[in-house]
Amino acid sequence: MAIRKKVTKGSQAWVYPLPALLIGTVIDGKANFMTAAWGSVANAEPPMLCVAIRRSRHTRKGIEAGAAFSVNVAAASQAREVDFCGIESGANLDKAARCGFTVFYGMHDKAPLIAECPVNLECTVAQIVELPTHSLVIADIRESHVSEDCLTDGKLDIAKVDPIVYVTSPARKYARLGDWVADGFSTGLSLKT
Ligand SMILES: Cc1cc2nc3c(=O)[nH]c(=O)nc-3n(C[C@H](O)[C@H](O)[C@H](O)COP(=O)(O)O)c2cc1C
Repeated sequence: MAIRKKVTKGSQAWVYPLPALLIGTVIDGKANFMTAAWGSVANAEPPMLCVAIRRSRHTRKGIEAGAAFSVNVAAASQAREVDFCGIESGANLDKAARCGFTVFYGMHDKAPLIAECPVNLECTVAQIVELPTHSLVIADIRESHVSEDCLTDGKLDIAKVDPIVYVTSPARKYARLGDWVADGFSTGLSLKT
């Protein structure tokens, strides 16, 4: 493999790609959804995730008040709704109504779920780490919902989910997953001694 000549570009959060998740909360009795790209899996057992929410977001209030939220994995076909939920605040309008989302609930009444999204996770807040601009919300994943049409032989079929991802600066665009390039936990075995 060839060595690549480098230039420095300062402190940049260049992590590619990021998920484009719809975070659901209940605020003043109303379901609200906010786009969050700064999210990740955080723990295996129990399954946990984390999401970085700027303190000024309306969503931050719902997380504080309800101690629960949802993570809705949107499909590539939902780019318009995902972007809208990332540029408008639930403090000013009913984003769920504007997007035509059908909201349903599972086990947590403070974790509204979007029926039109292929995958939905119900989460309860475990810990909040306050960082300079964002609250890193660490949560237990309590239940998962998947659309029946995204299953093949009873298993989640990621090709059918067709999740939307966000490609951050300088592109600032939404994309879908591309081709498989190799098998995980397998293709590296040939480098073992
Ligand atoms: C692609 C995309 C990703 C975003 N990711 C985040 C994020 O990870 N954390 C965050 O605090 N805001 C993020 N935002 C901004 C919020 O979604 C936006 O401020 C939204 O209006 C907040 O909604 P709310 O006020 O109803 O909570 C993102 C916006 C877009 C378009």
